[in-house]
Amino acid sequence: MSVVAMIGAQWGDEGKGKIADVLSREAAAMARFNGGNNAGHTVVVGETKIVLRLVPVGILRPDVRCYVGRGCVVNPAYLLEELGRLRDLDVSADNLTVDWHCHLILPYHIELDKAGDETLGRWRLGTTGRGIGPCYADKASRLGLRLADLFDEKRLTERLGALADRHAPTLKALGVDVDEKEVMAGLKEAAPKLERYAGDVAAAMREEVAGGEKVLLEGAHGLLLDLNYGTYPFVTSSTVHAGGAAAGLGLPCGFVDRILGVVKAYQTRVGEGPFPTELEDEPGERLRQHGNEYGSTTGRPRRCGWLDLVLLKYSVEVAGVDLIALNKLDVLDGVEPVKVCVAYELDGERLERAPAPFDYLEKVKPVYEELPGWPDGASGATSYGALPAAAKGYVDFIEDFVGAEVALVSTGPSREEGFMRREIFP
Ligand code: GDP
Ligand code: IMO
Ligand code: MG
Repeated sequence: MSVVAMIGAQWGDEGKGKIADVLSREAAAMARFNGGNNAGHTVVVGETKIVLRLVPVGILRPDVRCYVGRGCVVNPAYLLEELGRLRDLDVSADNLTVDWHCHLILPYHIELDKAGDETLGRWRLGTTGRGIGPCYADKASRLGLRLADLFDEKRLTERLGALADRHAPTLKALGVDVDEKEVMAGLKEAAPKLERYAGDVAAAMREEVAGGEKVLLEGAHGLLLDLNYGTYPFVTSSTVHAGGAAAGLGLPCGFVDRILGVVKAYQTRVGEGPFPTELEDEPGERLRQHGNEYGSTTGRPRRCGWLDLVLLKYSVEVAGVDLIALNKLDVLDGVEPVKVCVAYELDGERLERAPAPFDYLEKVKPVYEELPGWPDGASGATSYGALPAAAKGYVDFIEDFVGAEVALVSTGPSREEGFMRREIFP
């Protein structure tokens, strides 16, 4: 048994797509356990940039079996679109199984998400507008439709009718119209195209682990966006914590051997919410340009700032991160000095740990340690030895501060840029 759960350790977009792609060389199976097409995981193969939002990135390797577990939510029209894009790249999805029990994102959810967020004033989240929150809310309300419902017309009609009725007053108040007949027609069209991918992922995962294969669980988003452990209410609606991997796939908890936290060498955030180390103006803009920090799902400019080690330590402790994959070290080439946040100040008092509740994050002032920068040389490095001394010092500082080993370092977007310092799969 060799199961690694990979999770984002910040606010998403840490470079999980790149890391998952590198690890998929070794994996026999890969699975998504949370979220939906609000994720955007980028893989660069040669000159081609591929963004996968729902299907595990292992799909790009013909031998890797891929799963979408019932912790995920699925927009049927979007899934077909992603499969179409893969087909255009000559990538077969024959190895893909999507759990029967995945809840469906319907046009109602998308409209409620978009229009609803706009009504929140200063509490607006800036969601991806993919219908994620309302879909998980319907799941929890026992109102949702699941993938299996697509293949039973009577059930589909009844359940869609109930869902449409429930949301009609809210949609009307928001001034949005969703045509139930059109929704039904779309679902009927999608059903025969999706039926071959529907299956029992929980049973398949148990077989995968019993067979002793290397399995990578591809988390979406980042721990600070977790519904329970993130910066609520500025979070997503699923479990990002590695505990969600077991529940979202139907794996007994003890089967997850190792937790890999993916960390960006600095900090970014898309959407609203507290961000103590955010950099405005020129320094932030420099990180945005050098790191190409524009959302892979929505194209929105990402907010950028210095690495927040106080929050990273929180993520490592809360999620039980064993190993770190450090991404985008190359983006700091030429930054002098490099700052990292090692504590906060709140009302004249020094805080060594993230304040609970997180609402105080709005008010804290970061305390920085300045580390020497390096003019160039991290970009494209393929071994630890090849890194400039100051870049090595940066890696070592992170390790010491958070108490987890940096096992993998990425120094550029492509598959070849970066290196592993130890085996990730046990
Ligand atoms: P994810 O959501 O965690 O998978 O991250 P995204 O794919 O949304 O965003 C990461 C971006 O950084 C993508 O454009 C990647 O191609 C790019 N990227 C990943 N690793 C590196 C790296 O080490 N260096 C640089 N410069 N870019 C990287
Ligand atoms: P990946 O997997 C970055 C953010 C949104 C918004 C909040 C809620 O690519 O790292 P939602 O649409 O989920 O209800 O939006 O969460 N968000 C992400 N930010 N990367 C992601 O995924 C994200 N998924 C959601 O920007 O602030
Ligand atoms: Mg992303």
